[in-house]
Parts: sequence; C-alpha cells; structure tokens
Amino acid sequence: MTEKNPKDKLIVALDVDQAARALELFNSLRDYVGIFKIGMQLFTAAGPDMVRQIVSRGGRVFLDLKFHDIPNTVAAAGVEATRLGVSIFNIHTSGGGEMMKRTADAVAETAAREGLTKPAVIGVTLLTSVDQETLRQIGIDDEPPSVVKRLAMLAQTSGLDGVVASAHEIKIIREAVPRSGFVIVTPGMRSATDVSDDQRRVMTVGQAISAGADYVVVGRPILNSESPAKAARGFLQEIKDAVS
Ligand code: C5P
Repeated sequence: MTEKNPKDKLIVALDVDQAARALELFNSLRDYVGIFKIGMQLFTAAGPDMVRQIVSRGGRVFLDLKFHDIPNTVAAAGVEATRLGVSIFNIHTSGGGEMMKRTADAVAETAAREGLTKPAVIGVTLLTSVDQETLRQIGIDDEPPSVVKRLAMLAQTSGLDGVVASAHEIKIIREAVPRSGFVIVTPGMRSATDVSDDQRRVMTVGQAISAGADYVVVGRPILNSESPAKAARGFLQEIKDAVS
C-alpha cells in the first residue's frame, strides 16, 4: 500500500485527551493529512468509538496501540482492529515471530471471511526515543541500527506489511528487506526549525521521504502549533518538494 499522493504520506498523531478536540483537529486537518493516528492516550480516553467516528466521516486511521502480548491475545486484538476499519495498526516486533505471524494470518483470514479491507499490519522495531544507553539498560548489548535490521527482517519473514522505524534506519531496512511494497513508517519527524522534544533520533519530513519513507508521522510540531492547519500545510509542502 505504497501511497502515490503526497497527502496520503502524511500521518498526524492525534495525541490529545478528548474526542471533541480530536474531531476538531480531524476537521481542520483533513485537507492536508491522509491518515490520523490514534494512539494510547486518545484511545484510553475516548475508546474505539473514536476510531468509528473518524472512519464514519471518511477518514483513515492508523491505530497505534503497539500490541505486545502472547500470540493468541495479539492476534485477537488484531482481528478487532480489522473490524473497526483501521487502515494501519501496529504490534511490537520484539514480541517475536510467532506473535507476528499469528496476527498477520488472523487479520488476513478475518478480512477475507467478513468482506473487510485488510489493514496494513506493521511492526515497531525500536522506538525513536530509544538509544544505545536505553538498549544497555534492558540488557541488549548491540547498537540500534543492527537491532532494527534484525527486527525488520523478522517482521518481513513473519508476514507483516512493514515496520515503524527511525528515518535514520530506512537505508539499512531497504537493504535488508528488498521486497517492494514493504512499508516504512517514520515517526520522530520535525521540520528543519523545530526542537526535538524527547525524540532522540529525529529527521525532517523531507529528508525522510527522500530517504524512502512511505509515511511520516508528525505529532507535537502540528498539535502544539498556533495554527495546526498551517503547520500541516507546511509539512505537506515539504513532502511534495521531496517527491517531485
Ligand atoms: O509528537 P511527536 O511528533 O514526537 O509524535 C510522534 C508520535 O509517533 C507519537 O504519537 C508516538 O507515540 C509515535 N511513535 C513514536 N515512535 C515509534 C512509534 C510511534 O514516536 N517508534
């Protein structure tokens, strides 16, 4: 599901705590943004109805709940995400091959059986806030790029449609997983003038698209802007410039 239209490459993270605010943002951004990301904050506050509300208004949703549990539980959650009508949802690759494979299979079977559109199931490799020191803290004596490479290859052999990764790892992933259509979603995006918040491995949207990202996720630089619509238009322009 590689997107051709620049707008469809821009994902905005609806990281807010109220359904009303999320819908306000959806309405003001939908001309510039292809996909709306509902993550754990908004989902915990507003529930699956938030997804239904956006989907029923013709919006596309990336459900970013980063499932990580035993294979049976993650596969079952994936089935429910499919029934909600999301376009993309994600699971942690560090949950292992069986967890990913069972989920990918259950989603494909459910979509076929129930006549639903199959969402893209993508794997989180390393969070963009994770660096070498974080890896060391959790007992992984390896560097982020090689961990990401291993996890991306495992995602591909386990039947996932793509991965979430830092834009800095796009090249490594494309080399390790040459399959065409393997989706790379990159969060931690900034425009050239932004501060980095707690995202340690950031890149600009234009750089990420030029490096081969299929989708870029932008949260705070749009949400915290005085005019989110104006900010989103700016990011869309950066994407257009990068693809042309
Ligand atoms: O505000 P900011 O642009 O940093 O938001 C990035 C969004 O992408 C957040 O919603 C965050 O949860 C999400 N995300 C991430 N790193 C990942 C996967 C998702 O930052 N690996």
